[in-house]
Amino acid sequence: MTTNRIDLLGDVDEQGRDATYEPTSPWWLSGTPLEAEHHRLMRRRPVSIPWSATTAGALTDAARARLAGTWMRRSEAEYLAITTFSVLAIDLVAANAPADVISLCLRAGIDEVRHAEMCIRMAEIYSGKRQLPPPGMSSLPDDPSRPKLHQALANTMLVSCVSETYATTVLSATRDLTTDPTAQAVLTSIYSDEVMHARLGWSYLRHAIEIGGAGVIEAAAQMLPIALRGVANVVERERPVGEVTDAVRAHGLMTPAEERVIYSSCVREVLVPGFEALGIPVGTSVADYGDVWAHAS
Ligand SMILES: [Fe+2]
Ligand SMILES: [Fe+2]
Repeated sequence: MTTNRIDLLGDVDEQGRDATYEPTSPWWLSGTPLEAEHHRLMRRRPVSIPWSATTAGALTDAARARLAGTWMRRSEAEYLAITTFSVLAIDLVAANAPADVISLCLRAGIDEVRHAEMCIRMAEIYSGKRQLPPPGMSSLPDDPSRPKLHQALANTMLVSCVSETYATTVLSATRDLTTDPTAQAVLTSIYSDEVMHARLGWSYLRHAIEIGGAGVIEAAAQMLPIALRGVANVVERERPVGEVTDAVRAHGLMTPAEERVIYSSCVREVLVPGFEALGIPVGTSVADYGDVWAHAS
């Protein structure tokens, strides 16, 4: 008996590949026909990273170890960010968010896959080892008793408005001192996506206020200190051991003290004015992350 069967699990298909696309971390792929579709998704924003231009070979072992540690941490954060946007998408669907907000949120998760791939490859460049971030997922605040709109906007504030907006400010400052061409291109590529990830949140927040009125403003005001603290916890986290020398800085790394100052000015100059423009009371936000906090380390 002959059957017309679909080849559900064939060899890796050459279709969908092209000569100009180089998989970022090919050893992290499945080895199945999905790879070609994955390439299509990852090519969506064509940025060519000059991988072979890396100047890592000129660094000392200590500098390479420090950089491998940081790029590995970054890969962990990007990997978790995939799940952050997946969970946020659930909240947005539950709240009947507009289609453009939902699709951009899901696409942001795909962007984070690409960011994870790039950071994993950067870590490999410095360490010489093929290492994946540990398995895991991010947990977002979940209060089933509150209105779905409030739940969605609270997590949007945390994930997108505060976290991604801070990411754009710290990435742009880090990029400014990075001279290694590979690190520079990777940071630039990630930065350009994070700008859209931040815009997604500010746009949804404005929309939520338009449809939800005073209740939304109140929910946003309650969430603000929690969201600011959530990102401050990341800024305050211990760093990989090793000195941040000028050589290390040239490959995309700042000191924790510098990052505190950037977060402080991001709160004062970007986040607080943004929330105020939407009519959200900001309480003691500026004072909480003022000079005392910025210079505490
Ligand atoms: Fe990212
Ligand atoms: Fe992002």
